[in-house]
Amino acid sequence: MNTKIGIPKEIKISENRVALTPAGAYELTNRKHEVFVEKSAGIGSGFSDEEYIKAGAKILSTAKEVYDIADLIVKVKEPLESEYSLIRENQVVFTYFHFASSPTLTQAMIKTNAVCIAYETVEKADHSLPLLVPMSEVAGRLSAQEGAYMLEKKHGGKGLLMGGVAGTKKASVVILGGGVVGTQAAIISSGLGANVTVLDRNLTRLRYLNEIMPPNVTTMYSDTYTIKELSKTADVIIGSVLVVGDRAPQLITKDMLKEMRPGSVLVDVAIDQGGCFETSQPTTHEKPTFIIDGIVHYCVANMPGAVPTTSTIALTNATLPYVLKIADTGWEKACQNNSDLKNGLNIIKGSVVHQAVANAFKLPYTQYK
Ligand SMILES: NC(=O)c1ccc[n+]([C@@H]2O[C@H](COP(=O)([O-])OP(=O)(O)OC[C@H]3O[C@@H](n4cnc5c(N)ncnc54)[C@H](O)[C@@H]3O)[C@@H](O)[C@H]2O)c1
Repeated sequence: MNTKIGIPKEIKISENRVALTPAGAYELTNRKHEVFVEKSAGIGSGFSDEEYIKAGAKILSTAKEVYDIADLIVKVKEPLESEYSLIRENQVVFTYFHFASSPTLTQAMIKTNAVCIAYETVEKADHSLPLLVPMSEVAGRLSAQEGAYMLEKKHGGKGLLMGGVAGTKKASVVILGGGVVGTQAAIISSGLGANVTVLDRNLTRLRYLNEIMPPNVTTMYSDTYTIKELSKTADVIIGSVLVVGDRAPQLITKDMLKEMRPGSVLVDVAIDQGGCFETSQPTTHEKPTFIIDGIVHYCVANMPGAVPTTSTIALTNATLPYVLKIADTGWEKACQNNSDLKNGLNIIKGSVVHQAVANAFKLPYTQYK
């Protein structure tokens, strides 16, 4: 089967990622598929048009040309209003949609009669979300870097080096939630030499972390008493909890904040789920921090956007196997043969086939067999 794959340039503000690397384009063209990339789509991630051409892709000048020719559109972010009318009937759109957060987008995609497969609901049998994991890995590693950076005096931090030097104290890093984000945060902070404590409520997870982490990482059960005590002496606290289907629990309250030492840093990675510190408010890459009671708060909701080159490559590594399946056999066969991908189906030609999306807006739900 020959499939035409379209890669539009992302137009959401500050979005520098692109849905396919030249290496990914090469995999597809090597299998006799055709890849159409909008001019300059890869620039923000460090990939020139020439690199895509070398990989066998064709460059088109406008988004409209890409949407007009492609059977399968692969993107990063949800389509924005100016893109709605470009999407054609029966076209497959594979991207992060997050439908449940936008009735407008949901209605617009129903109207297009396209097939919408959402990255965020592609789910493996063990309930892991393979297309969310890479961004959590990036955010986790970045959270430790940002924590280290914000500890510098000029950012309002204590002026403390994570690992110290001989004869000085090391920073104390507390990580709330030892899932994907928390584990990556622990790897980087401990690698920088800090004394790290990871808290979680899942004992199996704590046992696992206890086995694999270096000696400067301690694991603790997450309860209010322990968090309160640790926060008094912490230099950096990274919030990386997730309660599936719920808002993040507020683990550091305003009262606890007052007992923390000025110049300490809070990095709230869970801000996209409401944040796990009571004083958190979403911030942007342009102005990532604010200070309350002398405590630096970093609460950027789309952290991977800071490192688009790494994020693009990590995302393509995860999406490409699914893109290949859709391109090789068409979306229907690909979904029949692969239950992860089938779980990604949200809207098929005007029908909502994902229960959570239907529930979110009280729309009729159609079961896809
Ligand atoms: N800001 C960003 O750019 C960005 C990027 C990626 C992920 N995230 C967010 O980061 C958060 C973590 O994502 P993840 O992929 O690591 O999730 P995950 O499911 O892998 O890990 C979450 C962990 O939190 C633990 N947990 C739940 N309640 C807890 C509590 N009260 N105390 C301590 N631990 C608790 C769970 O047991 C689990 O181990 C999510 O909210 C996710 O949306 C944000």
